[in-house]
Amino acid sequence: MLVENTIILGKKNIEFYNANGDSIEKINTDSPRILIFDSGVGGLSVSKYIENFFLGADVVYIADNKFYPYGNKDRNLLLERIEDLLEQAVQIFEPIGLIIACNTASTLLSNSFTEKLKMPCIKVLPPILEAFQISSKKNVLLIATPNTIDSEYVNNICAKLIDDKFIFKKLGLTELVNFSEMKSRGISLETNDIESLILRSMTKEEVDNVDVVILGCTHFPNIKDELKYIFKNVKEWVDPAYDAVNSLYQAINQINSQKGIQKFLFLTEQSKVDNFTSPYEYSGFL
Ligand code: DGL
Repeated sequence: MLVENTIILGKKNIEFYNANGDSIEKINTDSPRILIFDSGVGGLSVSKYIENFFLGADVVYIADNKFYPYGNKDRNLLLERIEDLLEQAVQIFEPIGLIIACNTASTLLSNSFTEKLKMPCIKVLPPILEAFQISSKKNVLLIATPNTIDSEYVNNICAKLIDDKFIFKKLGLTELVNFSEMKSRGISLETNDIESLILRSMTKEEVDNVDVVILGCTHFPNIKDELKYIFKNVKEWVDPAYDAVNSLYQAINQINSQKGIQKFLFLTEQSKVDNFTSPYEYSGFL
């Protein structure tokens, strides 16, 4: 029974590479650390708020580029991967708190797993009911990955939207995640391409009727300008990032360190792509 509540130590099937491509076993800083995790650049839309709250903590960003993208992978495989990665990352980097800055991962991970990590752990998740509260037309669109759209988390909330006047559209598009990765590396996007992609799943009338959009994938704040151009009548763009960091701050409460922030990036695979780490460097991760 003890195993139920214990992380199995010693398993090591995931490497963490720093920006120079060296596999890392430990980092030697004496400041407390916040761990933030995503499949790619999406978590940068969350980590940008960390400095608003945590001045004396270091930030360790893990991008699981080896397993990217998460949004259309087999769920069981993905869950096993994410649990392995988090268990190993927690052992290596010894954070005081963790943000799962990936909706796809957050919808998969159970609370019993995150409790085993024995630290404050915040999952970034799409705030669907909150979006309906601010939608005057009660016409909300969730844009996320296919795995998030099909998740139990989203389905359970859908079951609560019992009023027939509520219109809830869900778009699960892995291509948008790729667009965001490309844009973060300076590859310009054609808004028309994004629009055509969206119009394969929604009519123009449906697009024009939405008044609140939930950015249910951390990659999407990065392409919000393109989305704004397409969803012209949207009044509110809901992004749970700031609240997630605030929740972690409330859970940790206080950090006794005045050392200032250092930021570290770790990848799970050495990338051969030129300027792969540039978006992270741009956000201050070394
Ligand atoms: N950024 C992630 C999310 O919030 C997933 C992107 C992906 O790898 O598909 O869901």
